[in-house]
Amino acid sequence: MDSLDGKVAVITGAGNGIGRAEAVLLAERGAAVVVNDVGRDLADEVVAEIVAAGGRAEANYADVSDWKSGHEMVRQAVENFGGLDVVVTNAGLVRRAPITEVTETELDTQMSVLFKGTYGLIHHAAAYWKRESEAGRHAHRTIVATSSSAGVPGGVREFSVYGAMKAGIAALVLGAALEFRPFGVTVNAILPHAATRMDALAKGLAEPGPYAPDDPDPLNPRHVANVVGYLASARAAWLSGQVFEITGTQVRQWVPWSVAAEVDDDVAWTGEALDTALATRVYGTLPGGRVIPKR
Ligand SMILES: NC(=O)c1ccc[n+]([C@@H]2O[C@H](COP(=O)([O-])OP(=O)(O)OC[C@H]3O[C@@H](n4cnc5c(N)ncnc54)[C@H](O)[C@@H]3O)[C@@H](O)[C@H]2O)c1
Repeated sequence: MDSLDGKVAVITGAGNGIGRAEAVLLAERGAAVVVNDVGRDLADEVVAEIVAAGGRAEANYADVSDWKSGHEMVRQAVENFGGLDVVVTNAGLVRRAPITEVTETELDTQMSVLFKGTYGLIHHAAAYWKRESEAGRHAHRTIVATSSSAGVPGGVREFSVYGAMKAGIAALVLGAALEFRPFGVTVNAILPHAATRMDALAKGLAEPGPYAPDDPDPLNPRHVANVVGYLASARAAWLSGQVFEITGTQVRQWVPWSVAAEVDDDVAWTGEALDTALATRVYGTLPGGRVIPKR
């Protein structure tokens, strides 16, 4: 059930880091992979590595922030590999900056690559799968979207745009899982942790060297790929609308925002009454107390 023989996958941003590990692992399990990356040399290298190991892969150099790119990747998978079964939206970038210093260009770039790039491919793949299902062609079809702990639970300084887009991706997955259920498509999100170029840039560290697949380091991207390999397989067909955080071999289930406490009254709130209710019944502080976020 873990075999992906005969399956076709599209992975965005698969020229490096986590996407690269995912592409290599899915190909090892038998999937034909469309390896997307704006870094042409990177995508070509991954394709060469997969083909040299006896697998099937093709490069795609589209910029995921272009709405047409999703359509193009689906078309490439269907025309050149005969179908589409697995979509991993992984391409991403991060620009760390205080909110007061984010420029309009940075805001637009991150919103387009992270959110529009995810939404666009999901839109085009799901539209294709809906047509397949309506034509009576059924199969296990699945999407893995890449969110981040900067979005779920979020609240990370200087990652405001990135975090908001990643939270949006997790929210998108919850809605998409419900919408796609009638035509048999499952959708889950991951919150990965891995030592990659992006992670190094964000933390001001040197770029990590490539990991051997069996390197047990918890930040080896292969750990993330292992979970994505599972989610892509028929074994995981019962899971949808789930958000998993992956750190090495630790896999954590996250649940959506939930109500933590409530105050209510028979009459409209005055400022004084609401302040007292929140301070005493919700936060357990004295009136006039201050609630300071932990991070
Ligand atoms: N590394 C981590 O710890 C971590 C944590 C949380 C989330 N993530 C997410 O995981 C995903 C992969 O990140 P990574 O750490 O492997 O980074 P990475 O920089 O190693 O890889 C990202 C890849 O995406 C490609 N890319 C960027 N913009 C693109 C575009 N517009 N179109 C197509 N390709 C594009 C880049 O060329 C690069 O090869 C990202 O979505 C990132 O936000 C990573």
